Amino acid sequence: MADENFHIPVLSNKAIEYLINEKIPEQVLVDGTLGGGGYTKLICEIPSFKGKVIAVDKDENALDFSRERLSAYSDRIEFVNGNFADLKQIISDSGYERISGIVLDLGLSSYQLNAEDGFSFMNDTPLDMRAYKGDTATAADILNSYSKEDLSVLFEKFGDIGNAERLSEAVYKRRKSQKYKTTFDMVNTVKEEYEIGKKNLIDFLAKIFQSLRIEVNNELKNLERVLIDATESLVPGGRIVIVSYHSLEDRIVKNYFRDSVKKFEKTDDPFFDKEIEPVLKILTKKPIVPEREEIRSNPRSRSAKLRAAEKI
Ligand SMILES: C[S@@+](CC[C@H](N)C(=O)[O-])C[C@H]1O[C@@H](n2cnc3c(N)ncnc32)[C@H](O)[C@@H]1O
Repeated sequence: MADENFHIPVLSNKAIEYLINEKIPEQVLVDGTLGGGGYTKLICEIPSFKGKVIAVDKDENALDFSRERLSAYSDRIEFVNGNFADLKQIISDSGYERISGIVLDLGLSSYQLNAEDGFSFMNDTPLDMRAYKGDTATAADILNSYSKEDLSVLFEKFGDIGNAERLSEAVYKRRKSQKYKTTFDMVNTVKEEYEIGKKNLIDFLAKIFQSLRIEVNNELKNLERVLIDATESLVPGGRIVIVSYHSLEDRIVKNYFRDSVKKFEKTDDPFFDKEIEPVLKILTKKPIVPEREEIRSNPRSRSAKLRAAEKI
């Protein structure tokens, strides 16, 4: 498969620029979302780079593809099939205590969106959506088993869907007679319940599929966990770089960075704020977004936001 068919990396030069603090002599970097290997390749191509990259992905297909693509650099890369939320374990299993940087390019690769089951509503495939096949619940399992209330919360919280109760009621009604099996079962539920034009239908389905994907892959919880563990695992001067694609993820990163630079913490006493040590320094006052040229050549980059911080 041609490299660009697997995934065209987004904001890659900027991400690597922020990731590496050249003042740190021994570089141990984590690429927590290896995908098609675009970021790791850029790191390994830096002539002065003599360190190690721990390259992690949940998805076996991404690892197989990147192992082959990056075979010239195999002495510098430790490939790991795992969840970046298990960062501390991954670092220690790789024989290290601390790292000098971690980069996460969240979401899915183009390969997953186009070729793996359940992610795209344009093709009729099993409604799976698990990036890691060891995870138990598929998107179909969720639609077939969650209570109406839990479905509504999921659609509203992760898909920003207004009147989510109507959608969960429609799901509930359908599954009584017919269990959810494929992506088109969900598409048909929407078509039967709502009278909407093609453009609105696509936007609506995108929100529904996003909400299911976030739930199946535990995406927001994984992000919250890795931010804390990454901060604890970095050496002073080490960097965290996160590229996110929707506002829920970006808000988590923004709020986490904001809390980590605080010098004071509120107490019960309205006249007294407790002094605390900040743990991070923010490197990107505003999120970095792709240039117009990048968006033109890779429309999937249009919602990307990069934020970076340095351990104090
Ligand atoms: C947008 S792609 C990364 C693309 C990559 N930067 C490149 O240059 O090709 C996201 C990748 O992260 C992986 N991923 C998502 N969540 C993960 C997690 N919690 N742990 C490990 N990998 C994850 C996905 O399987 C996917 O391959």
